[in-house]
Amino acid sequence: MAKLWAGRTNANTSKLADEFNSSINIDKRMYKEDIEGSIAHVSMLSYCNIILKSEEIKITNGLKNILKDIESGKLKINENAEDIHMFIEETLTKRIGNVGKKLHTARSRNDQVALDIRLYLRKEIKLITNLINAIIKTIIKIAKNNRNVIMSGFTHLQKAQPITFAHYILAYGMMFKRDKERLNDLLKRINISPIGACALAGTTYKTNRKYEAKLLKMDGVCENSIDAVSDRDFIIELASNISIIAMHLSRLAEETVIFTSNEFNYIELSDALTTGSSIMPQKKNSDMAELVRGKTGRVYGNLINILTLLKGLPLAYNKDMQEDKELIFDSIDTIKNCINIFIEMLSTMKINKERMRDDALSGFINATDLADYLVNKGMAFRDAYKLSGKIVNFCIKENNKLNKKDSGFKFTLENLDINTYKKFSKLFSEDVYDFINLDNCVKRRNSYGGTSQSNIDTQIKYLNK
Ligand code: ARG
Repeated sequence: MAKLWAGRTNANTSKLADEFNSSINIDKRMYKEDIEGSIAHVSMLSYCNIILKSEEIKITNGLKNILKDIESGKLKINENAEDIHMFIEETLTKRIGNVGKKLHTARSRNDQVALDIRLYLRKEIKLITNLINAIIKTIIKIAKNNRNVIMSGFTHLQKAQPITFAHYILAYGMMFKRDKERLNDLLKRINISPIGACALAGTTYKTNRKYEAKLLKMDGVCENSIDAVSDRDFIIELASNISIIAMHLSRLAEETVIFTSNEFNYIELSDALTTGSSIMPQKKNSDMAELVRGKTGRVYGNLINILTLLKGLPLAYNKDMQEDKELIFDSIDTIKNCINIFIEMLSTMKINKERMRDDALSGFINATDLADYLVNKGMAFRDAYKLSGKIVNFCIKENNKLNKKDSGFKFTLENLDINTYKKFSKLFSEDVYDFINLDNCVKRRNSYGGTSQSNIDTQIKYLNK
């Protein structure tokens, strides 16, 4: 196929080479940014008297019409073109004639693609941030409705201490807030203009890069033209930020799978978000959560892929870099889908409050509080800890002696009669039951950031900021 860059070679590349070289199927999604960049470019060229004002107007109108026609579907993006930059420039010249050939003055595709991707990612970061805001909002709503819902907190996936479901879910709110901050910080580095670096060395035309950057609402210009066309750090950073979001979602997904299992039954997902089995009629599987967990692998892969792509590249532009877009676009699409599906899962799930509380009663999760009780009565913590452990051990042994049919937890710290307690220590009296009551255990944990209801309000305020 004949090329705009025919000259040094006759550019009649083979069909196989054309297909191999072409990136239009991937980069066509940047058509808007490419046109936006070109309009700013001709405006700068005319501002600097490199082209005539009348030429600027013709080119700008031509570009605006192309944009309009792409959006309305009137202009189909030609999949045989080399890339979106070539397609738009070729279409422009076809439509407005020779003046279209002036568009690429003082510009190279190397700085053009670097600009387009920055503009595109800038937009996508805002969209991802909006989704993160929405998931945080969902979490806040759940927290508000579950301030008093007692459950076991876990360490090592073993029941540890009583917490509230609000406190539990707000932990994810904190993660997503950090994710948002990371994306926002990255905007500082993304929103810097490489355009005007040209192929790698700058240009002999008297251009004004800062003027062009300002037109594009960018915060500054890349200081070194070689770096401007070689830098893909911001893509790696975004791939890494997205990986962290995916990791957070994946932990939530894992817990969703665990908490929806028969054994836990802490939460139930809406039927609309679960699947059945083709053979086992009783199944209700948390496929959406599993897929989020699974897709995290793909997102990590993209990060490693881009890092590896860049690691051996000499300065400045190399065609290898064309591969970066497919990877980062995939990470962006994947994370948006994952956040969206989780917002729907969270906002429609049923929280089995009774079940969580019942389950919390069978794990000795107030054993720390029992020790604290003794400390309040004057015992040293280490001794109190040991004694509390002994009492737990006693209960476990007694439970084991019970007939299987009587199953369950007859012997718990809540149920143990006071005389048995007194056999362990004279410090015990009736007030122990109140002290180790799960609601009271939670209420007392009011150290800053702890699980008490007063802290839940503080955390919600923090997330709302
Ligand atoms: N499609 C190319 C890419 O995505 C555009 C830049 C081409 N530059 C070049 N010197 N061949 O990287």
